[in-house]
Amino acid sequence: MDNNSQNTGIYKSIAKYAKTYILWAAAAAAGTVLSSWLEVRKTDCLRRIVDSAQAGELSAVPRIFLIAALCVAGIMAAVYISAYAAGRFSTGMIRDIKRDSAERISKIPIDYMNSVRSGEMLSKMSSDADNVQFFMESDFIAMMEIPFTFIFYLVFLIRLNPSLLLASIISAPIFVAIGARFSIPFKIGSKKYMRYLGLVSNTVADMVGGIPIVKSYNIEDALAEKYDSGIDKATDMALGNDKIQYRGIFFFQLARHVPLTVCLIYGGLLCFNGSLTLGALVAFTSLISQLLSPIIRSSQMFFNFRTAAASAERLFSIINEPIEREGGIVSSELPSDVPAIEFSNVSFEYERGKPVLKNISLGIAKGEQIGFAGASGCGKSTLLGLVCGFYSPDSGSIKIGGIDINERELKSTRALISYVSQDTYLFPESIYDNIAMGKPGAARDEVVTAAKAAYAHDFITATENGYDSKVGERGCRLSGGQIQRIAIARAFLKNAPILLLDEATSALDVKAEAEVQKALDDLSRGRTVLVVAHRLSTIKNSDRIAVIDGGVIAECGKHDELMSLGGIYAKLNNTGGDPE
Ligand SMILES: Nc1ncnc2c1ncn2[C@@H]1O[C@H](COP(=O)(O)OP(=O)(O)OP(=O)(O)O)[C@@H](O)[C@H]1O
Ligand SMILES: [Mg+2]
Repeated sequence: MDNNSQNTGIYKSIAKYAKTYILWAAAAAAGTVLSSWLEVRKTDCLRRIVDSAQAGELSAVPRIFLIAALCVAGIMAAVYISAYAAGRFSTGMIRDIKRDSAERISKIPIDYMNSVRSGEMLSKMSSDADNVQFFMESDFIAMMEIPFTFIFYLVFLIRLNPSLLLASIISAPIFVAIGARFSIPFKIGSKKYMRYLGLVSNTVADMVGGIPIVKSYNIEDALAEKYDSGIDKATDMALGNDKIQYRGIFFFQLARHVPLTVCLIYGGLLCFNGSLTLGALVAFTSLISQLLSPIIRSSQMFFNFRTAAASAERLFSIINEPIEREGGIVSSELPSDVPAIEFSNVSFEYERGKPVLKNISLGIAKGEQIGFAGASGCGKSTLLGLVCGFYSPDSGSIKIGGIDINERELKSTRALISYVSQDTYLFPESIYDNIAMGKPGAARDEVVTAAKAAYAHDFITATENGYDSKVGERGCRLSGGQIQRIAIARAFLKNAPILLLDEATSALDVKAEAEVQKALDDLSRGRTVLVVAHRLSTIKNSDRIAVIDGGVIAECGKHDELMSLGGIYAKLNNTGGDPE
């Protein structure tokens, strides 16, 4: 996408969000327009006071003073209203953008999400959102104000003395144009800086997320050094940007001071030869700096705008990320006359030319339990991921309850599935919250029953705060086996007709596994279950076992059949540390 069309896209996106709060923006703009108009009236009062005083006509002065005082009160009220409305406008807008971004993140397909770094995403949602909000609050409204201010002041000054106005401000556009040129490299620099800051944030995310590895491998210093050098480079970038900004501001300063100087010299001469009253010169000088002050302000604004535009580009990049497909057939039926899950010639690869699964065909009857075995990396988790609709097959089809998964609505399909993943994720909330996620709105009794069924109740009640104990970041306050039991309890609570267990009991000791296995057997009754396990005792009693090798189902049958076949399964059984 070229720069212009990218910018147009951002402006369109901003306009879309601004629309909701347009009345606040209008109130803010109206406040500034009113204050500018009152400023002109106040300056005119100043002119009249000076001229009246010079002419010795003091009788009108108190009335003019009163008008000036009312103007000042009006300006203060208008500025307050404008600031308040601008705040409502910008915070409302940013809240909506953040809300949509977060919603978007939750809808990004898993395969795309795998390529995204969390630190960068957070930096977009925090620093970049702050930049946009700062601009919207402080400068966006002012941008609307400037044309009005300019017109009011210009009309007043033209009426006072057009030739003085022309002589004064003729140099300003040239300086403004030169100053504005610096905003282009500034924007490029800002964007680079924000992107780099995002990369530096990844290091912090690594320090936090990988803390056990960081400590056990003594890589704290290396990471701290990486962060140090990253932040040093980011600071250099920021200083470089500041230098560009100050150069631009220098020209904007000239745009203000040169006209003011010309106005004083030329206006003074006009006063001497009598073609301008002293009151008019005072009013002119006062207003010409007011006329030029928005130019100075716009100098800063221009740079803020560039920073905000660069940040908005990054922030809106989240909103423009691809999302999972929506819509499709909503069905919670699993008819008994068709396979609950049916793979037909399914092939899948993560990376082009590196097939993981090749032409997999397998029908799993409703109520059947099927175990998957195979070497590490053979594609077992991938197969379960395909059933969950995390990825789409490159060719072939997967049907659930007789309906192609690509035609089904994803949300309702996932409602049919309880999935215990290989790398269990616990949210840094309480044990209770983590289990209850299996069924939003579940009663406490149901949560406890699920925990009991997963043999988790005893260890939970032994913790200091029982079900309300916090599990820590990614469950760091719990053991691997405890985490797994919470994940199983979550799946129990969901109570879905299809159960996917990916190494769900691998971290349990033999005794705990036997207990949880009993619970899983109970849960499996009447459900369609796909179990992945390296420990073959876990899948030994499955109705069928499929062995994946080289991307295909190399063997499929009951435990005894596969053992007597003497093939891969038998070998795995003999070498898997789980001999009979
Ligand atoms: N997101 C990904 N991007 C690219 N390749 C991937 C991705 N996830 C998995 N793979 C690759 O796909 C292959 C199958 O992975 P998968 O996780 O399905 O194996 P698995 O059979 O579950 O292994 P394990 O028994 O170790 O859990 C592996 O070679 C792996 O490197
Ligand atoms: Mg796996």
